[in-house]
Amino acid sequence: MLSDRPMSKIAAVILAAGQGTRMKSALPKVMHPIAGRPLVHFPVRAALEAGCDEVIVVVGHGREHVTRYLAAAFGERVKTVVQTTQLGTGDAARYGVSAIADCDRVLVFYGDVPLLEAGDLASATRSAAPFALATIVVDDPAGYGRILRDESGDVLEIREHKDLRSDAERAVREINPGIFVSSAAFFTEALAALSPNNAQGELYLTDVVAAARGAGLGIGVIEARAEVLVGINDRVQLAQAEERMLARIADAHRRAGVTVRHGARIDDGVVIGADTVIESGAVLRGDTRVGAGVRVDVGCVLTDVVIEDGVVLKPCSVLEKSLVRANAQIGPFSHLRPESDIGEGAHIGNFVETKKTKLGPGAKANHLAYLGDGLVGARANIGAGTIFCNYDGFLKHTTTIEEDAFIGSDSQLVAPVTIGRGAYVATGTTVTRDVPADALAISRTKQENKEGYASRIKARMKAAKDRKAQ
Ligand code: UD1
Ligand code: CA
Repeated sequence: MLSDRPMSKIAAVILAAGQGTRMKSALPKVMHPIAGRPLVHFPVRAALEAGCDEVIVVVGHGREHVTRYLAAAFGERVKTVVQTTQLGTGDAARYGVSAIADCDRVLVFYGDVPLLEAGDLASATRSAAPFALATIVVDDPAGYGRILRDESGDVLEIREHKDLRSDAERAVREINPGIFVSSAAFFTEALAALSPNNAQGELYLTDVVAAARGAGLGIGVIEARAEVLVGINDRVQLAQAEERMLARIADAHRRAGVTVRHGARIDDGVVIGADTVIESGAVLRGDTRVGAGVRVDVGCVLTDVVIEDGVVLKPCSVLEKSLVRANAQIGPFSHLRPESDIGEGAHIGNFVETKKTKLGPGAKANHLAYLGDGLVGARANIGAGTIFCNYDGFLKHTTTIEEDAFIGSDSQLVAPVTIGRGAYVATGTTVTRDVPADALAISRTKQENKEGYASRIKARMKAAKDRKAQ
Protein backbone atom coordinates (compact mmCIF):
# COMPACT_ATOMS: atom_id res chain seq x y z
CA MET A 1 0.00 0.00 0.00
CA LEU A 2 1.17 3.49 -0.78
CA SER A 3 1.49 5.91 2.07
CA ASP A 4 2.19 9.62 2.01
CA ARG A 5 4.76 9.11 4.74
CA PRO A 6 8.37 8.82 3.76
CA MET A 7 9.69 5.31 4.16
CA SER A 8 12.25 6.39 6.69
CA LYS A 9 11.92 6.00 10.45
CA ILE A 10 11.50 9.13 12.53
CA ALA A 11 12.66 9.91 16.05
CA ALA A 12 11.23 12.66 18.27
CA VAL A 13 13.75 14.52 20.43
CA ILE A 14 11.95 16.52 23.11
CA LEU A 15 13.94 19.11 25.06
CA ALA A 16 12.96 19.21 28.72
CA ALA A 17 16.15 19.78 30.67
CA GLY A 18 15.73 23.48 31.50
CA GLN A 19 15.04 24.69 34.99
CA GLY A 20 12.35 27.12 34.01
CA THR A 21 13.70 29.96 36.14
CA ARG A 22 10.63 32.10 35.50
CA MET A 23 8.41 29.53 37.21
CA LYS A 24 10.18 30.43 40.49
CA SER A 25 9.74 26.90 41.70
CA ALA A 26 11.61 24.02 43.29
CA LEU A 27 9.76 21.75 40.88
CA PRO A 28 11.29 21.43 37.38
CA LYS A 29 9.19 23.36 34.88
CA VAL A 30 8.05 20.36 32.89
CA MET A 31 6.72 18.66 36.05
CA HIS A 32 4.22 21.43 36.81
CA PRO A 33 0.79 19.88 36.38
CA ILE A 34 -1.80 20.84 33.81
CA ALA A 35 -5.20 19.15 34.03
CA GLY A 36 -3.71 16.64 36.46
CA ARG A 37 -0.62 15.62 34.52
CA PRO A 38 2.88 17.07 34.36
CA LEU A 39 3.40 19.41 31.42
CA VAL A 40 5.87 17.06 29.76
CA HIS A 41 3.24 14.32 29.52
CA PHE A 42 1.43 16.04 26.68
CA PRO A 43 4.21 16.62 24.13
CA VAL A 44 5.50 13.09 24.78
CA ARG A 45 2.03 11.64 24.22
CA ALA A 46 1.66 13.74 21.07
CA ALA A 47 4.92 12.34 19.68
CA LEU A 48 3.85 8.76 20.42
CA GLU A 49 0.42 9.26 18.93
CA ALA A 50 1.93 10.92 15.87
CA GLY A 51 3.67 7.62 15.23
CA CYS A 52 7.26 8.55 16.01
CA ASP A 53 9.33 5.37 16.03
CA GLU A 54 11.55 6.54 18.89
CA VAL A 55 10.79 9.16 21.52
CA ILE A 56 13.75 10.61 23.37
CA VAL A 57 13.35 13.17 26.14
CA VAL A 58 16.35 15.25 27.16
CA VAL A 59 16.23 15.74 30.93
CA GLY A 60 18.41 17.77 33.28
CA HIS A 61 16.88 19.81 36.06
CA GLY A 62 15.01 17.50 38.41
CA ARG A 63 15.99 14.62 36.16
CA GLU A 64 15.22 11.87 38.72
CA HIS A 65 11.73 13.21 39.11
CA VAL A 66 11.11 13.61 35.36
CA THR A 67 12.66 10.24 34.47
CA ARG A 68 10.67 8.42 37.13
CA TYR A 69 7.47 10.01 35.91
CA LEU A 70 8.09 9.21 32.24
CA ALA A 71 8.98 5.60 33.04
CA ALA A 72 5.80 5.16 35.08
CA ALA A 73 3.58 6.84 32.50
CA PHE A 74 5.04 5.52 29.23
CA GLY A 75 7.36 2.63 30.12
CA GLU A 76 9.85 1.56 27.49
CA ARG A 77 8.27 3.57 24.72
CA VAL A 78 10.14 6.65 25.93
CA LYS A 79 13.87 6.93 26.44
CA THR A 80 15.52 9.67 28.50
CA VAL A 81 18.99 11.12 28.10
CA VAL A 82 20.66 13.43 30.60
CA GLN A 83 22.02 16.85 29.65
CA THR A 84 24.39 17.36 32.55
CA THR A 85 24.64 21.16 32.43
CA GLN A 86 22.15 23.36 30.67
CA LEU A 87 24.29 24.99 28.01
CA GLY A 88 21.36 25.79 25.76
CA THR A 89 18.80 24.18 23.49
CA GLY A 90 21.46 23.31 20.92
CA ASP A 91 23.45 21.40 23.51
CA ALA A 92 20.30 19.63 24.67
CA ALA A 93 19.50 18.64 21.09
CA ARG A 94 23.03 17.20 20.72
CA TYR A 95 22.37 14.83 23.62
CA GLY A 96 19.00 13.87 22.19
CA VAL A 97 20.17 13.25 18.65
CA SER A 98 23.17 11.22 19.82
CA ALA A 99 20.80 8.88 21.69
CA ILE A 100 18.87 7.90 18.54
CA ALA A 101 19.19 4.17 17.90
CA ASP A 102 18.01 3.63 14.34
CA CYS A 103 16.05 6.48 12.83
CA ASP A 104 17.24 8.51 9.91
CA ARG A 105 14.78 11.42 10.33
CA VAL A 106 14.50 13.55 13.46
CA LEU A 107 11.82 15.81 14.80
CA VAL A 108 13.19 18.13 17.49
CA PHE A 109 10.84 20.16 19.65
CA TYR A 110 10.54 21.80 23.05
CA GLY A 111 8.93 20.03 25.99
CA ASP A 112 7.12 23.05 27.42
CA VAL A 113 4.21 23.03 24.95
CA PRO A 114 1.41 21.11 26.70
CA LEU A 115 -1.34 22.04 24.23
CA LEU A 116 0.44 20.36 21.36
CA GLU A 117 -1.43 17.34 19.97
CA ALA A 118 -0.48 14.53 17.61
CA GLY A 119 -2.21 16.29 14.71
CA ASP A 120 0.06 19.28 15.16
CA LEU A 121 3.07 17.08 14.47
CA ALA A 122 1.57 15.31 11.47
CA SER A 123 2.85 17.67 8.80
CA ALA A 124 6.27 17.60 10.43
CA THR A 125 6.47 13.80 10.62
CA ARG A 126 5.28 13.52 7.02
CA SER A 127 7.56 16.23 5.68
CA ALA A 128 10.16 14.95 3.28
CA ALA A 129 11.84 18.37 3.04
CA PRO A 130 15.60 18.30 3.68
CA PHE A 131 14.95 20.74 6.51
CA ALA A 132 11.69 22.18 7.81
CA LEU A 133 10.59 24.28 10.74
CA ALA A 134 7.30 25.54 12.14
CA THR A 135 6.68 29.26 12.41
CA ILE A 136 3.79 31.15 13.97
CA VAL A 137 2.72 34.77 14.09
CA VAL A 138 1.95 36.20 17.53
CA ASP A 139 0.69 39.59 18.74
CA ASP A 140 3.48 40.07 21.24
CA PRO A 141 6.75 38.53 20.03
CA ALA A 142 8.81 39.76 23.00
CA GLY A 143 11.13 37.06 24.29
CA TYR A 144 10.80 34.76 21.29
CA GLY A 145 13.26 33.96 18.54
CA ARG A 146 12.27 35.86 15.38
CA ILE A 147 12.08 34.32 11.92
CA LEU A 148 14.16 36.46 9.59
CA ARG A 149 13.48 36.14 5.84
CA ASP A 150 15.21 37.49 2.75
CA GLU A 151 13.62 39.80 0.14
CA SER A 152 12.10 36.88 -1.70
CA GLY A 153 10.50 35.62 1.52
CA ASP A 154 12.74 32.60 2.10
CA VAL A 155 13.76 31.84 5.67
CA LEU A 156 17.25 33.07 6.43
CA GLU A 157 17.70 32.34 10.10
CA ILE A 158 16.23 32.59 13.59
CA ARG A 159 17.52 35.40 15.74
CA GLU A 160 16.93 35.21 19.48
CA HIS A 161 15.25 38.16 21.18
CA LYS A 162 18.39 39.16 23.05
CA ASP A 163 20.42 39.15 19.85
CA LEU A 164 18.11 41.38 17.79
CA ARG A 165 19.90 44.33 16.26
CA SER A 166 17.24 46.81 15.21
CA ASP A 167 13.70 47.95 15.89
CA ALA A 168 12.75 46.53 12.52
CA GLU A 169 13.90 43.08 13.72
CA ARG A 170 12.14 43.56 17.05
CA ALA A 171 8.92 44.36 15.18
CA VAL A 172 8.91 40.96 13.46
CA ARG A 173 5.95 39.02 14.80
CA GLU A 174 6.72 35.72 13.08
CA ILE A 175 8.42 33.64 15.73
CA ASN A 176 9.95 30.27 16.37
CA PRO A 177 7.63 27.96 18.31
CA GLY A 178 10.32 25.28 18.22
CA ILE A 179 9.55 22.39 15.87
CA PHE A 180 12.32 21.32 13.52
CA VAL A 181 12.62 18.32 11.26
CA SER A 182 15.52 17.07 9.16
CA SER A 183 17.77 14.08 8.67
CA ALA A 184 19.71 12.70 11.63
CA ALA A 185 22.86 13.21 9.58
CA PHE A 186 22.20 16.93 9.09
CA PHE A 187 21.34 17.50 12.77
CA THR A 188 24.43 15.65 13.94
CA GLU A 189 26.67 17.76 11.74
CA ALA A 190 24.96 21.12 12.33
CA LEU A 191 24.71 20.67 16.10
CA ALA A 192 28.39 19.71 16.32
CA ALA A 193 29.28 22.99 14.63
CA LEU A 194 27.33 25.28 17.01
CA SER A 195 29.17 27.95 18.96
CA PRO A 196 28.01 30.01 21.94
CA ASN A 197 28.79 33.18 20.10
CA ASN A 198 25.66 35.12 21.14
CA ALA A 199 24.14 37.40 23.78
CA GLN A 200 23.42 34.53 26.18
CA GLY A 201 26.63 32.56 25.62
CA GLU A 202 24.52 29.47 24.92
CA LEU A 203 24.42 26.86 22.22
CA TYR A 204 21.28 27.74 20.28
CA LEU A 205 19.33 25.02 18.53
CA THR A 206 17.89 27.81 16.41
CA ASP A 207 21.28 28.32 14.72
CA VAL A 208 20.73 25.12 12.73
CA VAL A 209 18.37 27.11 10.52
CA ALA A 210 21.16 29.36 9.20
CA ALA A 211 23.31 26.22 8.87
CA ALA A 212 20.66 24.55 6.71
CA ARG A 213 20.47 27.64 4.56
CA GLY A 214 24.26 27.77 4.33
CA ALA A 215 24.36 24.11 3.27
CA GLY A 216 21.97 24.93 0.47
CA LEU A 217 19.11 22.82 1.86
CA GLY A 218 15.66 24.01 0.84
CA ILE A 219 13.91 25.19 4.01
CA GLY A 220 10.31 24.07 4.29
CA VAL A 221 7.77 25.68 6.59
CA ILE A 222 5.48 23.42 8.64
CA GLU A 223 1.88 24.44 9.21
CA ALA A 224 1.19 25.06 12.88
CA ARG A 225 -1.64 26.25 15.13
CA ALA A 226 -0.25 29.28 16.89
CA GLU A 227 -2.48 28.93 19.94
CA VAL A 228 -1.16 25.50 20.89
CA LEU A 229 2.49 26.25 20.38
CA VAL A 230 3.13 29.04 22.82
CA GLY A 231 5.61 27.64 25.34
CA ILE A 232 5.07 27.85 29.08
CA ASN A 233 7.64 30.03 30.80
CA ASP A 234 5.81 31.33 33.88
CA ARG A 235 2.75 30.55 35.96
CA VAL A 236 0.56 33.00 34.10
CA GLN A 237 1.14 31.09 30.88
CA LEU A 238 0.68 27.85 32.83
CA ALA A 239 -2.74 29.00 34.03
CA GLN A 240 -3.77 30.13 30.55
CA ALA A 241 -2.71 26.83 29.02
CA GLU A 242 -4.54 24.88 31.70
CA GLU A 243 -7.72 26.81 31.06
CA ARG A 244 -7.55 25.92 27.38
CA MET A 245 -6.76 22.31 28.18
CA LEU A 246 -9.71 21.99 30.58
CA ALA A 247 -12.05 23.53 28.01
CA ARG A 248 -10.79 21.04 25.44
CA ILE A 249 -11.39 18.11 27.81
CA ALA A 250 -14.88 19.32 28.81
CA ASP A 251 -15.86 19.75 25.16
CA ALA A 252 -14.68 16.24 24.31
CA HIS A 253 -16.94 14.85 27.07
CA ARG A 254 -19.84 17.00 25.87
CA ARG A 255 -19.45 15.63 22.36
CA ALA A 256 -19.58 12.13 23.83
CA GLY A 257 -22.93 12.82 25.51
CA VAL A 258 -22.00 14.15 28.95
CA THR A 259 -23.54 17.35 30.30
CA VAL A 260 -20.67 19.34 31.74
CA ARG A 261 -21.79 22.57 33.37
CA HIS A 262 -19.70 25.68 33.33
CA GLY A 263 -17.01 25.67 36.00
CA ALA A 264 -16.70 21.92 36.42
CA ARG A 265 -13.11 20.70 36.34
CA ILE A 266 -12.34 17.37 34.68
CA ASP A 267 -8.72 16.34 34.50
CA ASP A 268 -7.05 14.54 31.64
CA GLY A 269 -7.75 10.81 31.61
CA VAL A 270 -11.05 10.83 33.53
CA VAL A 271 -13.65 8.57 31.89
CA ILE A 272 -17.37 9.49 31.94
CA GLY A 273 -20.39 7.66 30.52
CA ALA A 274 -23.20 9.15 28.46
CA ASP A 275 -26.07 11.07 30.04
CA THR A 276 -24.07 11.82 33.13
CA VAL A 277 -24.35 15.35 34.48
CA ILE A 278 -21.33 17.08 35.99
CA GLU A 279 -22.41 20.19 37.85
CA SER A 280 -20.54 23.45 38.39
CA GLY A 281 -17.64 23.32 40.77
CA ALA A 282 -17.33 19.54 40.67
CA VAL A 283 -13.74 18.30 40.41
CA LEU A 284 -12.94 14.93 38.82
CA ARG A 285 -9.32 13.89 38.89
CA GLY A 286 -6.80 11.09 38.85
CA ASP A 287 -7.85 7.64 37.75
CA THR A 288 -11.56 8.35 38.02
CA ARG A 289 -14.18 6.45 36.04
CA VAL A 290 -17.82 7.51 36.13
CA GLY A 291 -20.58 5.44 34.56
CA ALA A 292 -23.65 6.45 32.58
CA GLY A 293 -26.64 8.37 33.91
CA VAL A 294 -24.76 9.54 36.99
CA ARG A 295 -25.30 12.90 38.66
CA VAL A 296 -22.24 14.58 40.16
CA ASP A 297 -23.66 17.60 41.90
CA VAL A 298 -22.15 20.97 42.77
CA GLY A 299 -18.85 20.93 44.63
CA CYS A 300 -18.18 17.19 44.67
CA VAL A 301 -14.50 16.22 44.61
CA LEU A 302 -13.67 12.80 43.13
CA THR A 303 -10.13 11.45 43.22
CA ASP A 304 -9.30 7.98 41.86
CA VAL A 305 -12.83 6.66 42.25
CA VAL A 306 -15.08 4.34 40.31
CA ILE A 307 -18.73 5.36 40.13
CA GLU A 308 -21.13 2.92 38.52
CA ASP A 309 -24.22 3.74 36.46
CA GLY A 310 -27.14 5.64 37.93
CA VAL A 311 -25.38 6.85 41.07
CA VAL A 312 -26.37 10.20 42.57
CA LEU A 313 -23.64 12.20 44.26
CA LYS A 314 -25.35 15.07 46.07
CA PRO A 315 -23.54 18.38 46.61
CA CYS A 316 -20.19 18.78 48.32
CA SER A 317 -19.28 15.12 48.73
CA VAL A 318 -15.61 14.17 48.82
CA LEU A 319 -14.65 10.72 47.53
CA GLU A 320 -11.22 9.19 47.31
CA LYS A 321 -9.98 5.80 46.05
CA SER A 322 -13.40 4.23 46.50
CA LEU A 323 -16.04 2.31 44.61
CA VAL A 324 -19.70 3.36 44.49
CA ARG A 325 -21.90 0.68 42.96
CA ALA A 326 -24.90 1.19 40.70
CA ASN A 327 -27.74 3.45 41.82
CA ALA A 328 -26.26 4.26 45.21
CA GLN A 329 -26.80 7.72 46.68
CA ILE A 330 -24.11 9.72 48.40
CA GLY A 331 -24.27 13.09 50.17
CA PRO A 332 -24.79 15.91 50.52
CA PHE A 333 -21.57 16.44 52.51
CA SER A 334 -20.42 12.83 52.66
CA HIS A 335 -16.77 11.84 52.95
CA LEU A 336 -15.69 8.55 51.42
CA ARG A 337 -12.09 7.89 52.37
CA PRO A 338 -9.90 5.27 50.66
CA GLU A 339 -11.15 1.71 50.23
CA SER A 340 -14.79 2.45 50.77
CA ASP A 341 -17.06 0.17 48.76
CA ILE A 342 -20.66 1.33 48.68
CA GLY A 343 -23.11 -1.35 47.57
CA GLU A 344 -25.76 -1.19 44.91
CA GLY A 345 -28.58 1.15 45.87
CA ALA A 346 -26.98 1.90 49.25
CA HIS A 347 -27.29 5.34 50.85
CA ILE A 348 -24.61 7.40 52.56
CA GLY A 349 -26.05 10.66 53.83
CA ASN A 350 -24.88 13.99 55.16
CA PHE A 351 -21.90 14.13 57.50
CA VAL A 352 -21.20 10.44 57.18
CA GLU A 353 -17.54 9.46 56.90
CA THR A 354 -16.48 6.04 55.67
CA LYS A 355 -13.02 4.48 55.53
CA LYS A 356 -12.12 0.93 54.44
CA THR A 357 -15.76 0.01 54.82
CA LYS A 358 -17.85 -2.17 52.58
CA LEU A 359 -21.60 -1.66 52.52
CA GLY A 360 -23.85 -4.34 51.07
CA PRO A 361 -26.68 -3.62 48.64
CA GLY A 362 -29.38 -1.33 50.01
CA ALA A 363 -27.58 -0.64 53.30
CA LYS A 364 -28.10 2.85 54.71
CA ALA A 365 -26.24 5.31 56.90
CA ASN A 366 -28.10 8.53 56.34
CA HIS A 367 -26.85 10.96 58.96
CA LEU A 368 -23.80 11.88 61.04
CA ALA A 369 -21.82 8.68 61.37
CA TYR A 370 -18.27 7.35 61.27
CA LEU A 371 -17.91 3.97 59.59
CA GLY A 372 -14.24 2.98 59.70
CA ASP A 373 -12.97 -0.57 59.01
CA GLY A 374 -16.44 -2.00 58.66
CA LEU A 375 -18.31 -4.75 56.90
CA VAL A 376 -21.99 -3.91 56.61
CA GLY A 377 -24.46 -6.46 55.27
CA ALA A 378 -27.26 -5.91 52.80
CA ARG A 379 -30.15 -3.68 53.94
CA ALA A 380 -28.61 -2.96 57.33
CA ASN A 381 -29.68 0.42 58.70
CA ILE A 382 -27.23 2.54 60.63
CA GLY A 383 -28.81 5.31 62.68
CA ALA A 384 -27.72 8.91 63.13
CA GLY A 385 -24.66 9.43 65.28
CA THR A 386 -23.38 5.87 65.09
CA ILE A 387 -19.65 5.48 65.55
CA PHE A 388 -17.53 2.47 64.65
CA CYS A 389 -14.86 2.73 67.39
CA ASN A 390 -12.22 1.12 65.21
CA TYR A 391 -9.01 2.35 66.83
CA ASP A 392 -7.77 1.58 70.31
CA GLY A 393 -4.76 3.85 70.02
CA PHE A 394 -2.58 1.02 68.75
CA LEU A 395 -4.48 -1.18 66.31
CA LYS A 396 -7.43 -0.89 63.95
CA HIS A 397 -10.26 -3.39 64.40
CA THR A 398 -13.23 -4.41 62.29
CA THR A 399 -16.90 -3.85 62.97
CA THR A 400 -19.13 -6.39 61.25
CA ILE A 401 -22.84 -5.77 60.86
CA GLU A 402 -24.74 -8.59 59.27
CA GLU A 403 -27.65 -8.20 56.89
CA ASP A 404 -30.87 -6.55 57.97
CA ALA A 405 -29.44 -5.50 61.32
CA PHE A 406 -30.64 -2.19 62.76
CA ILE A 407 -28.32 0.12 64.65
CA GLY A 408 -30.19 2.72 66.71
CA SER A 409 -29.03 6.32 66.79
CA ASP A 410 -26.08 7.40 68.89
CA SER A 411 -24.64 3.93 69.29
CA GLN A 412 -20.97 3.13 69.65
CA LEU A 413 -19.77 -0.17 68.27
CA VAL A 414 -16.46 -0.94 69.93
CA ALA A 415 -14.47 -3.06 67.48
CA PRO A 416 -13.71 -5.87 67.03
CA VAL A 417 -17.38 -6.66 67.28
CA THR A 418 -20.10 -8.38 65.28
CA ILE A 419 -23.80 -7.53 65.16
CA GLY A 420 -25.64 -10.62 63.97
CA ARG A 421 -28.10 -10.87 61.16
CA GLY A 422 -31.35 -9.00 61.82
CA ALA A 423 -30.21 -7.96 65.31
CA TYR A 424 -31.40 -4.71 66.86
CA VAL A 425 -29.17 -2.32 68.74
CA ALA A 426 -31.20 0.08 70.84
CA THR A 427 -30.54 3.81 70.63
CA GLY A 428 -27.66 5.01 72.73
CA THR A 429 -26.10 1.60 73.25
CA THR A 430 -22.37 1.06 73.63
CA VAL A 431 -21.78 -2.35 72.11
CA THR A 432 -18.67 -4.05 73.47
CA ARG A 433 -19.64 -7.70 72.98
CA ASP A 434 -20.94 -9.52 69.91
CA VAL A 435 -24.70 -9.39 69.44
CA PRO A 436 -26.22 -12.69 68.24
CA ALA A 437 -28.55 -12.79 65.25
CA ASP A 438 -32.03 -11.53 66.00
CA ALA A 439 -31.06 -10.33 69.52
CA LEU A 440 -31.76 -6.91 71.02
CA ALA A 441 -28.72 -5.17 72.51
CA ILE A 442 -29.39 -2.39 74.96
CA SER A 443 -27.05 -0.71 77.44
CA ARG A 444 -28.37 2.38 79.13
CA THR A 445 -29.13 3.55 82.65
CA LYS A 446 -32.80 3.42 83.55
CA GLN A 447 -34.68 6.68 83.07
CA GLU A 448 -36.24 8.37 86.09
CA ASN A 449 -38.80 11.25 85.90
CA LYS A 450 -39.03 13.58 88.92
CA GLU A 451 -42.39 15.37 88.74
CA GLY A 452 -42.31 19.17 89.13
CA TYR A 453 -38.53 19.31 89.41
CA ALA A 454 -37.87 21.45 86.34
CA SER A 455 -39.25 24.74 87.71
CA ARG A 456 -37.60 24.17 91.13
CA ILE A 457 -34.22 23.60 89.53
CA LYS A 458 -34.59 26.63 87.26
CA ALA A 459 -35.51 28.88 90.22
CA ARG A 460 -32.45 27.68 92.15
CA MET A 461 -30.13 28.37 89.23
CA LYS A 462 -31.59 31.81 88.51
CA ALA A 463 -31.03 32.79 92.15
CA ALA A 464 -27.39 31.68 91.90
CA LYS A 465 -26.93 33.81 88.79
CA ASP A 466 -28.56 36.89 90.41
CA ARG A 467 -26.27 36.59 93.44
CA LYS A 468 -23.23 36.54 91.18
CA ALA A 469 -24.40 39.65 89.27
CA GLN A 470 -24.68 41.77 92.48
C1 UD1 B 1 13.36 29.05 22.90
C2 UD1 B 1 13.94 29.37 21.51
C3 UD1 B 1 13.20 30.56 20.92
C4 UD1 B 1 11.72 30.23 20.84
C5 UD1 B 1 11.18 29.85 22.22
C6 UD1 B 1 9.75 29.33 22.08
C7 UD1 B 1 16.29 28.76 21.46
C8 UD1 B 1 17.69 29.23 21.56
N1 UD1 B 1 15.34 29.66 21.61
O1 UD1 B 1 13.64 30.15 23.74
O2 UD1 B 1 13.68 30.81 19.60
O3 UD1 B 1 10.99 31.33 20.31
O4 UD1 B 1 11.97 28.80 22.81
O5 UD1 B 1 9.19 29.05 23.32
O6 UD1 B 1 16.09 27.59 21.23
N2 UD1 B 1 16.14 23.30 27.31
C9 UD1 B 1 16.98 22.24 27.55
N3 UD1 B 1 18.29 22.46 27.82
C10 UD1 B 1 18.83 23.71 27.84
C11 UD1 B 1 17.96 24.81 27.62
C12 UD1 B 1 16.62 24.57 27.34
O7 UD1 B 1 16.55 21.08 27.53
O8 UD1 B 1 20.04 23.83 28.09
C13 UD1 B 1 14.71 23.03 27.03
C14 UD1 B 1 13.80 23.62 28.09
O9 UD1 B 1 13.53 22.68 29.12
C15 UD1 B 1 12.53 23.98 27.32
C16 UD1 B 1 13.05 24.21 25.90
O10 UD1 B 1 14.34 23.64 25.83
O11 UD1 B 1 11.60 22.93 27.29
C17 UD1 B 1 13.10 25.69 25.56
O12 UD1 B 1 13.97 26.33 26.48
P1 UD1 B 1 13.67 27.79 27.02
O13 UD1 B 1 14.72 28.14 27.98
O14 UD1 B 1 12.26 27.89 27.47
O15 UD1 B 1 13.90 28.60 25.68
P2 UD1 B 1 13.43 30.08 25.36
O16 UD1 B 1 14.39 31.03 25.93
O17 UD1 B 1 12.01 30.24 25.68
CA1 CA C 1 10.44 28.81 26.39
